[in-house]
Amino acid sequence: MPTAQSESTENKLLSVVGRPIPRVDGPLKVSGTATYTSDHNFPGMLYAVPVPSTIAKGSIAALDTTAAEKMPGVRAMFHRENIGRFFRVPPNADFSIVIDERRPPFDDDTIRYYGQYVALAVADSLEQAKAAADAVKVTYHEETPDVRTKLTQEQEPKVESQRGDATAAFNTAPVKIDQTYVTPAETHNPIELHATVAVWDGTAFTLYETTQSIKNHQLAMSAMLGVPPENVRVVSRFLGSGFGGKLWPWTHDVLAAAAARNLKRPVKLVVDRKMMFQTVGHRPLTQQRIRLGATANGTLVSTQHDFLNHSSILDDYDEGCGEATPHLYRCPNLRITSGVVHLNVGTPTAMRGPGAVPGLFALESAMDELAVKLNIDPVELRLRNDTQIDEALNLPFTSRHLKECLTAGAEKFGWHQRTPGVGSMRKDGLTLGWGVAAATWIANRLDCEATIDLKADGSVRVACGTQDIGTGTYTMLAQIVAEALGIDPDKIEVVLGDTALPTGPLSGGSMVTGSLVPAIMEAADNAIQKVQLAATTAGPFSGQTAENLVFSNGRLHRKDQSPVNGVPYEQVLQAANINSVSGTGRSQGDFTDLLGLTKPKLSSHSFGAQFVEVTWQPEIARLRVSRVVTAIDAGRIINPRTGRNQIEGAVVMGVGMALFEHTTYDDQNRGAPINSNLADYVVSTNGDAPEMDVIFLDYPDTHLNALGARGIGEIGLAGVASAIASAVYHATGVRVRELPIRIEDLIT
Ligand code: MOS
Repeated sequence: MPTAQSESTENKLLSVVGRPIPRVDGPLKVSGTATYTSDHNFPGMLYAVPVPSTIAKGSIAALDTTAAEKMPGVRAMFHRENIGRFFRVPPNADFSIVIDERRPPFDDDTIRYYGQYVALAVADSLEQAKAAADAVKVTYHEETPDVRTKLTQEQEPKVESQRGDATAAFNTAPVKIDQTYVTPAETHNPIELHATVAVWDGTAFTLYETTQSIKNHQLAMSAMLGVPPENVRVVSRFLGSGFGGKLWPWTHDVLAAAAARNLKRPVKLVVDRKMMFQTVGHRPLTQQRIRLGATANGTLVSTQHDFLNHSSILDDYDEGCGEATPHLYRCPNLRITSGVVHLNVGTPTAMRGPGAVPGLFALESAMDELAVKLNIDPVELRLRNDTQIDEALNLPFTSRHLKECLTAGAEKFGWHQRTPGVGSMRKDGLTLGWGVAAATWIANRLDCEATIDLKADGSVRVACGTQDIGTGTYTMLAQIVAEALGIDPDKIEVVLGDTALPTGPLSGGSMVTGSLVPAIMEAADNAIQKVQLAATTAGPFSGQTAENLVFSNGRLHRKDQSPVNGVPYEQVLQAANINSVSGTGRSQGDFTDLLGLTKPKLSSHSFGAQFVEVTWQPEIARLRVSRVVTAIDAGRIINPRTGRNQIEGAVVMGVGMALFEHTTYDDQNRGAPINSNLADYVVSTNGDAPEMDVIFLDYPDTHLNALGARGIGEIGLAGVASAIASAVYHATGVRVRELPIRIEDLIT
């Protein structure tokens, strides 16, 4: 092989991290051969359909399944009396097993939210099961549900963060903002419905499952079903996204598993779109009062953020709206409080950017109001209040470039052309509005393992019990392994989504990439050492010591030889008659920092800035988000193509958050989430997608891992709604503090 070509190949391979390679699982998906949960079918498989309650508060007076039991194909009608026992997940403070709705299904006869499952029909076909579920007669003692949208504090507020004297500083501040911001309940609505296919072999379960954490699912199912964890295998090869709704198990999961165990037949249960609005979580309604005090030149002297969110009757879900507030700006006096208000709604859960996303809508809207009041440019106001110290922890940041996000984004957007007057900018007969918001999201690492096998056929297998929720985990892992071994990503087979594999991280909190890098690097080193050892037993290096052999770019060579004269590792393995060598690596988590269980040494977050243009046609009351520029500081970007996809997807979702999404619990209709379908619950479509630019600053954050990669799954949503609301104010003069922004809000 000519030397020059080898060298250029080497250079190419060495920089595989950072290359925009197409998704390695793309062909499987576009050809329809990727196996999603509900694609699993087994001989003798039965179909389960839950019976949801049609009231939101009260109790079951009578449940009559006799007619349903006699219907064709019906194998069982399960309810509280005959399904068997479900245990509760033991309470834990360390995140070791997580479940949001702690009450197991069928636990009592009390109804606490609309859609709560009261029975389960199991039949030979989906249609038969559906018909049987519809034939169940339930009578209720009905009470008036509480689904109000104006929240009032139930108990003493919980102090989430505090420094200085925020009240005194606010009282004496020359300039003040005191406003309340509201974000509605939002339903995740991934394209793929929640589903489970449960198989029981008499001893053990195999659960094909739509989950963002196969490991947590295994532990939770083990606890609730009363079987040891090694007798619960959870498989999730492909997911049609989750947005947080699939992080933790829901009540249908144990129902399907119990049905399979009781009937000794595989059981498939798919949660339909309507039930998705009732029983598998949502982002709760938040009501957030923000008080900012500043000097005349815009220096923050006091920040108060008091928020309430709704939860279900039995669970204390805390949205954590104050997550970003303590560290985003320099401010000596700060106080954040929270409160949970228990309503007759299903249990809320994390939705993309939980806490920070609704929290930043409030905080960044208030910052824009402060900028207007002070007549200071909103970018300039944020630059003046930047900090290099996380004042909540009194620690420096691992890597913070918010200022550069603001300036680089402003440059790309053309912000210097902005004129501040309301309605002062026009283009092609349209009124333009320009708005900006800062963004931030946590950066943490989870405990995890991965195994790399180098094989005699020249291929590489990397295995990890994590899952790809559609964000590009398969691709990112292929790239990191390729980088670690110096070989082509095409040679790498990535195997995910099975608890039989080494324990991987959950797909949440934008933590998978940052978590896996150390494990992969260590696994690669260990696999390489095994090749070196194998080489000493036979073949061209036999008799050498392993220490004298170097592995570079997939080849083995003596220390005193040039890498280009090395022998490909597969030839080494072939000569030694070894099929494959295996190395395992481990990442140590720092997630405990986030839970406040250990004291961190540095504060680790990602940052961003988002610039929005809206067009407004007052004559026909037409509002459109036309252009969004996002600048992101999320460490080193492994794949700018999948990375850009993440930010663009988040921006489009942010348009929906700002303008469309709103789950309506109807107190005129027994507390049902009334718009429980994709016609009435409006999400952004391609037609709503603005022109988008994404800038990655690409400063490696080597605190988290050797490659310096943080996560990017959530931060792209963090500033969008606020920047849109501020752009709408700039165009129309109407400040909308309650999402979604409706046309009715803008017609004055
Ligand atoms: Mo995300 S809300 O951590 O799935």
